[in-house]
Amino acid sequence: MITALVTGGCGFIGTNLIRLILESTHDWKVINLDLLTYAGNLENTLGLEQDYPGRYIFVKGDIADPEMVNRVFQEHGLDVILNLAAESHVDRSIEDAGVFIRTNVMGVQVLLDAALKYKVQRFVQISTDEVYGSLGPQGRFNEAMPLAPNSPYSASKAAADLLIRSYIKTYGLDAVITRCSNNYGPFQFPEKLIPLIVVNAHEDKELPVYGDGKNVRDWIFVEDHCRGIITAARSGVSGEIYNMGGDAEKENIEIVSSILDYLHKPHSLIRYVKDRPGHDFRYAMDYSKIEAEQGWRPRVNFDDGLKRTIDWYLEHKSWWQRIRTGDYLEYYERMYGGR
Ligand code: NAD
Ligand code: TYD
Repeated sequence: MITALVTGGCGFIGTNLIRLILESTHDWKVINLDLLTYAGNLENTLGLEQDYPGRYIFVKGDIADPEMVNRVFQEHGLDVILNLAAESHVDRSIEDAGVFIRTNVMGVQVLLDAALKYKVQRFVQISTDEVYGSLGPQGRFNEAMPLAPNSPYSASKAAADLLIRSYIKTYGLDAVITRCSNNYGPFQFPEKLIPLIVVNAHEDKELPVYGDGKNVRDWIFVEDHCRGIITAARSGVSGEIYNMGGDAEKENIEIVSSILDYLHKPHSLIRYVKDRPGHDFRYAMDYSKIEAEQGWRPRVNFDDGLKRTIDWYLEHKSWWQRIRTGDYLEYYERMYGGR
């Protein structure tokens, strides 16, 4: 049995990853360590203890708390760490960078020290294309490109990537880093573009589009990313970085329009708002390395994935209605109230 620690397993990608691991393997056991911030929802993993007896354990805790982390490593005899715990929203990092540094940098240091101390076989860091900065209209990011993060979020993720590099070089830690483009799919918190537009459009609320709506992201269905994470954990080469992307470059406005059309809602709901400061223009990923070495490539076509995602939100209204409360509503008002 391989015992994997998945951190941030009650968030968007973590939830999808844990479900995929439990469904697609027989010999993996998952320990989910999650602080349950505003973005973590225990409901996402409800029933997994019963559905996969002996193969799933939830622990509430903070990756930046060394005592807690050491206890988890000691109790569970971990083989692999899959670190997804993070503050993940660029706009929030612009408001307050502190918690991003604490979780995304200091939390990683705590996990790395524990990984060394308890001699885990492999550390997998889930990083992002945003560490490379922004592209012009041409070209794609490859793994050899320099790090040039532009937001406090991406800077905190780049800092973690460099810290991991130093642990590999200095202490001989076995680690791989995956860098993926924008994910979409079930369980994404409705503050990110696609779920925000789906739920707002469904409720006939205005749809905030930053700037001229022409910024480009390379969208990947979350299941494809999760399959790549498992591949990197199993057969990635220590010390290597693996880019993943979805082959689906879209301008934001194209996505908003597709969602409106699918929901039969009027385009008059679109509201162009003040641009995000330091807004990266374009991301696009060259994933030829993981394709050549590991045989991974994205499988889900964007139009199909988008429909599946919209349908999921329509079928799970109570899920998003319950989480759009308290802190989130205050955030939303601060974000869009004055624009
Ligand atoms: P998310 O915000 O949906 O989930 C983050 C999870 O981490 C939540 O469950 C939260 O409770 C937990 N968490 C936060 N701080 C914690 C702490 N100190 N200790 C323990 N748990 C903590 O994020 P996501 O979109 O699922 O992203 C997961 C990872 O993937 C992140 O590292 C992110 O940088 C990376 N990533 C995301 C995308 C994307 O498009 N969403 C793309 C590439 C990489
Ligand atoms: P987001 O989902 O926040 O991901 P990221 O900033 O990490 O790429 O945003 C995706 C794109 O959509 C980005 O160009 C910003 C834009 N955007 C809007 O235009 N309106 C919104 O309400 C949000 C949340 C994002």
